[in-house]
Amino acid sequence: MAIPEDVINEIKYRNDIETVISQYVTLKRRGKNLVGLCPFHGEKTASFTVYPETASFYCFGCGVGGDVFTFTGLIENLDYIESIKLLAERSGVTLPDSGYDDSMQRLKNRIYDINRETARFFHEYLLSDAGVWAREYLLGRGLKPATIKKFGLGASPDSWDALINHLKSKGYTIDEMVAANVVGKSQRGTYYDRFRKRVMFPIINIRGNVVGFSGRAMPGEDKQGGKYVNTSDTPVYKKSANLFGMNLAKNHCEERMILVEGNMDVISLNQAGFENTVAPLGTAFTEEQANILARYTKEVVLTMDADAAGQKAIKRAAEILEKTGLKTRVIVIPDGKDPDEFIKKNGPDRFRGLIDGAVSDIEYKLLMAAKDIDLLSDDGKLKYLSAAAEIIASQSDIMTRDIYIGRLSEKYGVSRTALETKVKDLRKGFVRSQEKKEINDIIRPKFTKNDVNPEKRISVKGTNAEETLIAVLLQHPDFYKTAQEKLPPEKMITSLNKRIYSIIIDTLEKGEGLDISTFGQQLLPAELGLLVSLQNSERAAKNPKIVLNDCIEVILEENLRLEMSRNSDVSVEEWALRLQNIIDKKQKGN
Ligand code: UTP
Ligand code: MN
Repeated sequence: MAIPEDVINEIKYRNDIETVISQYVTLKRRGKNLVGLCPFHGEKTASFTVYPETASFYCFGCGVGGDVFTFTGLIENLDYIESIKLLAERSGVTLPDSGYDDSMQRLKNRIYDINRETARFFHEYLLSDAGVWAREYLLGRGLKPATIKKFGLGASPDSWDALINHLKSKGYTIDEMVAANVVGKSQRGTYYDRFRKRVMFPIINIRGNVVGFSGRAMPGEDKQGGKYVNTSDTPVYKKSANLFGMNLAKNHCEERMILVEGNMDVISLNQAGFENTVAPLGTAFTEEQANILARYTKEVVLTMDADAAGQKAIKRAAEILEKTGLKTRVIVIPDGKDPDEFIKKNGPDRFRGLIDGAVSDIEYKLLMAAKDIDLLSDDGKLKYLSAAAEIIASQSDIMTRDIYIGRLSEKYGVSRTALETKVKDLRKGFVRSQEKKEINDIIRPKFTKNDVNPEKRISVKGTNAEETLIAVLLQHPDFYKTAQEKLPPEKMITSLNKRIYSIIIDTLEKGEGLDISTFGQQLLPAELGLLVSLQNSERAAKNPKIVLNDCIEVILEENLRLEMSRNSDVSVEEWALRLQNIIDKKQKGN
């Protein structure tokens, strides 16, 4: 059941979009609108725009948009209904108790419950007599009982249905268990526990809900299913937008966070007093994760393994982090150990020493560039210096460039001016390619309108006309009757625009007002972004009636053209006749 329009309006009225967004984004006034750096993708020029007049926002960079609820949902990781509830709560509006849970929300709540129950089941099993093998393993790896408890670690029994039976006894259905991804369904249609005889790490999100699991096989027993089995994405869990340990780290990370590769690294650093540690969840570090870190801290210390794969991971993560503006430093752990092994062998103080001595991103790159080069030979020196010049040129801060030019010229006995000239030349090229990239990012944003509406491929011309028609109706709703008469919703070419057009007509037919929130519960943020951009687009501004009629004509023509191409039996003459028909009708309309 949807929340009634007047309740939503009341909540919206009390949660002014400018005030809400200002809590997360520094906004500057530009004309009647406000702009700032988009919190949803990395950018250095402000393309995130807030339109107070229509209580909406849109990012020209990545294409997301919507109303105050969409914004809150994106930034707090909530769905639309959850954000309505959150903002209602914050502004003291009481929603009537009953009935606002739609079926998706109900399923999500069931999955949260299943996850909590499953974590409890695994934890109790770990502490039971039967779980002695897992207890021995964890204690053997140096974990203290208090740490096991703090992370809620557990163990899954060596059984295909122990969890299924337990959850059944608690009243959960098999479909709900599958939706939570703790139970799998085989091709033969039978169900089985996904985690068997593994040490279990519950994954807990920032708000303290168990959202998934990571299960580690016992040494030598990882043939079936691999070393780790992880929860796949579910309605409550998106791997790429969560970090292991974030629920604990979020309270200790104002200055810096430590990013490690594995769960065990997070746990053992935590035990050693480094509570500001997180790890990605079995995938490469993502932009979404970087954006989360940027909201909580100022600096990230990277501690990937020193092997080739680890180095590549560091490079990639540093690039992603740079885009968010976070300061990044790198720890190189001696002997290619992971942080867990290092700290066990050398203790917390030496690890702290590593953090304090962690080199900046540029120093790390300079170090790596020197790795396979013989610096004693002239040839090698030259090779290294050109690589180094490139690294220095990539730094945007002029002081940083100056410092390293000084250091290198001294260390390798080359003239400062020579190095300076070289860096300057490289810098020009670098700035140019950087600018090009930024311009490209704006012109070709991540969710372009083409991505939002994949069916645009069918007919670009027709889709453009549909979008303009929608723009006209958003700006001049009075024309909806005319549109409805000439163009029934089924005639829209793309299904997204068909949906939008139907909502517009239904809403106006009911005599309700039309704004972005009308669509909030039914469209995705990128789709809402398209709507906000249409609402503010100029293309409908002049003479809306003519524009509207033109659009309708194009859409009908395109409909016909598509029908023709699908249906080659119809003759060209017949096609021309039908086209003439449309044109005649249009002229009558004007
Ligand atoms: P590692 O193999 O380095 O494991 O993988 P680890 O965390 O150091 O574990 P221990 O110390 O051997 O017990 C690093 C991370 O990559 C993911 C996991 O998140 C792991 O923590 N991973 C690894 C998987 O998701 N699946 C795998 O099969 C292996
Ligand atoms: Mn390890």
